[in-house]
Amino acid sequence: MKTLYGTGARMANPLRYLTVAATMLVAASQGRAQVSPLIQNLGARSTTSLDGQWQTIVDPYDVGAFDYRGQPLKNSAAFYKNFKPQSKTDWVEYDFDTSGHLNVPGDWNTQRESLLLYEGSVWYKRSFDYAKAPKRRLFLHFGAANYLASVYLNGEALGQHEGGFTPFDFEITDRVRPEGNFVILRVNNARAKEDVPTVNTDWWNYGGITRPVTLVEVPETFIQDYSIQFEKGSTRQIKGWLQLNGPELHQNITIGIPEAHASKTFATDDTGRVEFSFTADLQPWSPENPKLYAVEISGATDRVVDRIGFRSISVQGTDILLNGKTLFLRGISIHEEAPTRPGRAWSVDDARTLLGWAKELGCNFVRLAHYPHGEAMVRTADEMGILVWEEVPVYWTIQWENPDTLRNAKNQLNELITRDHNRAALIIYSVANETPISDARNRFLSQLIQQAHASDPTRLVSAALQASETEEGGRFTIHINDPIANELDVMGNNEYIGWYVRRIADLDVTDWASKYDKPLIMSEFGADALFGDHGDAQTRWTEEYQESLYVHQIAMLRRIPFLRGTTPWILKDFRSPRRTLPGIEDYFNRKGLVSNRGEKKKAFFVLQEFYRELQNTRRLADQYENSPR
Ligand code: GCU
Repeated sequence: MKTLYGTGARMANPLRYLTVAATMLVAASQGRAQVSPLIQNLGARSTTSLDGQWQTIVDPYDVGAFDYRGQPLKNSAAFYKNFKPQSKTDWVEYDFDTSGHLNVPGDWNTQRESLLLYEGSVWYKRSFDYAKAPKRRLFLHFGAANYLASVYLNGEALGQHEGGFTPFDFEITDRVRPEGNFVILRVNNARAKEDVPTVNTDWWNYGGITRPVTLVEVPETFIQDYSIQFEKGSTRQIKGWLQLNGPELHQNITIGIPEAHASKTFATDDTGRVEFSFTADLQPWSPENPKLYAVEISGATDRVVDRIGFRSISVQGTDILLNGKTLFLRGISIHEEAPTRPGRAWSVDDARTLLGWAKELGCNFVRLAHYPHGEAMVRTADEMGILVWEEVPVYWTIQWENPDTLRNAKNQLNELITRDHNRAALIIYSVANETPISDARNRFLSQLIQQAHASDPTRLVSAALQASETEEGGRFTIHINDPIANELDVMGNNEYIGWYVRRIADLDVTDWASKYDKPLIMSEFGADALFGDHGDAQTRWTEEYQESLYVHQIAMLRRIPFLRGTTPWILKDFRSPRRTLPGIEDYFNRKGLVSNRGEKKKAFFVLQEFYRELQNTRRLADQYENSPR
């Protein structure tokens, strides 16, 4: 359990954890619900959506959780009790029924002007009836809630989840009643130094229940999780595992791929787990041919169908190989903001629009920055044939020595991997962005890298690093020598030459060197431009400046022999509390190639032309074999 007295922002809200932690501990000791293991492939289960209008109470001083002495409330004054005055003498100082509503899913910041900059607690309430069939189990699932969610059902604590970008669920089988259920959440997005991310980010701290809420009904013994994919380096050998959850753990499980006339049966062990391997003739999934197969997984008590693409991703020296062939990742970075309205994206339509713009650019790859985006985004990338880099928000300078912070980061990585490990589109896990080199940082990241490799050996691990620079005779050399790159499969690097560092012209005299025989993805570069702001190419904030920067960046990138991908910063202008310049930024980072109203800037077409040219090239360097190094 977290200590009360952290530093920095926590002091503003020292009691943020107390009540909840105390109540959860009581709940746990009485064997009540806890965050349960995630259920794989929710969309294929029998579900009931709880999305829509939720009743809400905005509670800046957490009076719904603590008394004036800061002690946890357990009586009717606690908002999670949803207590109603029984008589005219009763003192009750809150009322969900008359306190307004917010949409779920949705951030609260863009739903009410008064909440745009709000950081603190908001209470959410939703009532529902549920006639559960006998011998069935019921789970309450959240796609995400930023940042700390404390969940109650019918006035009792269910559990708590920390981390704003990954799913969580609670088993409520013995708690739900046929009528009059009420689920209440306290969602708190106050920032704290020991959190992941920490107090400082270049994105908006959207609060709320930001992704769908679902009731999921499954059999008493159900297929909890499975992983089915080509073995690394193979396009015939399928390898995987499956985990049952429930009393009947010994079962014969059949994995069927009807379209490929493949069907194999394996027996689970007494822990309900089986590891399996078999061969099948399948069309490999690729951006050119995003072939998804219906995979039927069935046992004595449960059956699940998933749509899975089969592909192999690996590295060889400085090459990235997809299904054994070298590949150049023509990418773009994306924040999880809705394409044509303010606020967080969450729907399939949002994903289709954002990925549609990426396709228009000529992309076969996207970097989902700096945190796990919604499942809708990754599944849509599967459908549309776009490769994906996913990242946990180990961003800038977090508390490397704090064991809670490490546990938190590991948990977020685990939830990401658990949710998306059957998505063919997903090829890279990134464990960090622009983190300062130190022994403590290296130890921290090393543990995340090992965890990713151990829990999912079929994918690559990377991080967005920062390199050092030397100058000689008017030429600059950027050296990729970050020690953590030793443990990575793919190196990512962020550079802002021509914007934060030096001038655009210096790109023409900049070379790159790497200590490692590994592929590089230039994970960020770019410049701010306000759509419609025009001038000469030397005038910052104009479209012409951004356009010129892209022209010179691309010329430099062509000269990097170990470059195997690019994800410029960024597809669309996005909200940031760090961007205050009036009339230009107005709390938006303007490095988008598309404005926040969906208008394409001149640089969009520079990158599009480059990617079109590359479309027929597997290795950038192939074209410039003889170009001077
Ligand atoms: C950083 C960072 C981004 C940020 C960008 C910028 O490199 O990774 O999160 O938005 O630079 O300054 O625009």
